[in-house]
Amino acid sequence: MNKREFIKRIALVGLSTPVFTRLDGLLAAAEGRSSLELATDEDFWAKVRASYKLKPDYINLESGFYCIQPEDTLENFIRHVREVNYHGSYYMRNLRLENKQRVTAKLAEMAGCSADELVITRNATESLDTIIGGVHWNSGDEAVLANQDYGAMRSMFELVEQRYGVARKIIDVPMHPQSDQEIVDTYAAAITPKTRLLMVCHIINITGHILPIRKICDMAHSKGVDVLVDGAHAFGHFEFSINDLNCDYYGTSLHKWLSAPLGAGFLYVNKSNLHKVWPVFASPKEPDDITRLNHTGTHPAHTDLAIANAIEFHNRIGGARKEARLRYLQNYWTDQAREMDHLNLFTPKDRHRSCGIANVGVDGMESSDMAKKLMDEHGIFAVSINTSGVNGCRISPNVFTSIEELDALMAALKSMG
Ligand SMILES: Cc1ncc(COP(=O)(O)O)c(C=O)c1O
Repeated sequence: MNKREFIKRIALVGLSTPVFTRLDGLLAAAEGRSSLELATDEDFWAKVRASYKLKPDYINLESGFYCIQPEDTLENFIRHVREVNYHGSYYMRNLRLENKQRVTAKLAEMAGCSADELVITRNATESLDTIIGGVHWNSGDEAVLANQDYGAMRSMFELVEQRYGVARKIIDVPMHPQSDQEIVDTYAAAITPKTRLLMVCHIINITGHILPIRKICDMAHSKGVDVLVDGAHAFGHFEFSINDLNCDYYGTSLHKWLSAPLGAGFLYVNKSNLHKVWPVFASPKEPDDITRLNHTGTHPAHTDLAIANAIEFHNRIGGARKEARLRYLQNYWTDQAREMDHLNLFTPKDRHRSCGIANVGVDGMESSDMAKKLMDEHGIFAVSINTSGVNGCRISPNVFTSIEELDALMAALKSMG
């Protein structure tokens, strides 16, 4: 090995090895126990909670915007900032690409797709808007989306309408569906021979409703329509594989449920669709190279490195265990709330149609007043949502949330009756 190779090897090792391994003993003790059994083990989750530095000022039930990093990931992130700064341009010229490819491969493995179909972005907005704005639209084409979709993507479709004359067909997702077919049929009814693209949330951010993506994709494909999935709240929250979803495009943020540093996301494009999308920023790459869609110039390369640490933390806990715990926490409080006459649940009751997120409102109370009361009178932080048939507070706990905190939420909700 020559000197240059040696320096490079050392630098790569230094950048990839995590420095903290707090969870190891805990997880060894949990070996052999099922995810469902572990979901209710408060001692276990109290130790996971200890991996986070939590503000004592309020109970944080608003993980949906940004799921804070555990201390391990944060310390590694800070270390990467220092390392990249230490190497300077040497890192950017000699190590950055190789590291980015390594992290991309890890993400692709977790997402269940191949590494040449995935590119790291800054967030779900960049990922999804790259597709919405990049499709080779013709005047008169149609796009299907929902009132419950995220505002930024709805605005992007509006822009595409103004720019190219694309008509938007906007559906309402049934809040308490009787079956998957009811949702599939709602989307199917909006498709016409002019429909080019259907966008659908994997999980609706305001209600926590998980949609039957595979069935929607199969239906849309049978009519020749491509599907873009908004997975901003899905990745790292519950288990799935992109290949099983059979979608054409998938965009997510990693600073949400994967607990990566702020400003990280990914875009998946099925290989057969790469040629259908114009990049937003020009790049010299070939049309069959997905990185062509992501030429955003020099960016915080240390964030890419910390994504690997976030995946490592996630895998240590285990995706199935995390999903089971988050669903258990949500059901713990919503099962009680559904019994109270003055409360309205804006999240479907079927266990498989939701996970950690749910939304609750109080009869006769504006959601903004409710959020204020929760914070001012009970020290509980949750976000108010008043749109698309929802007037309540979104409650998004995390793996650090304790049962005592949810008991405090229930006491607060009870007092609002
Ligand atoms: C459903 C949904 N899509 C997209 C986004 C955009 O995510 P980001 O701001 O990380 O790009 C969000 C953000 O909360 C969201 O809830």
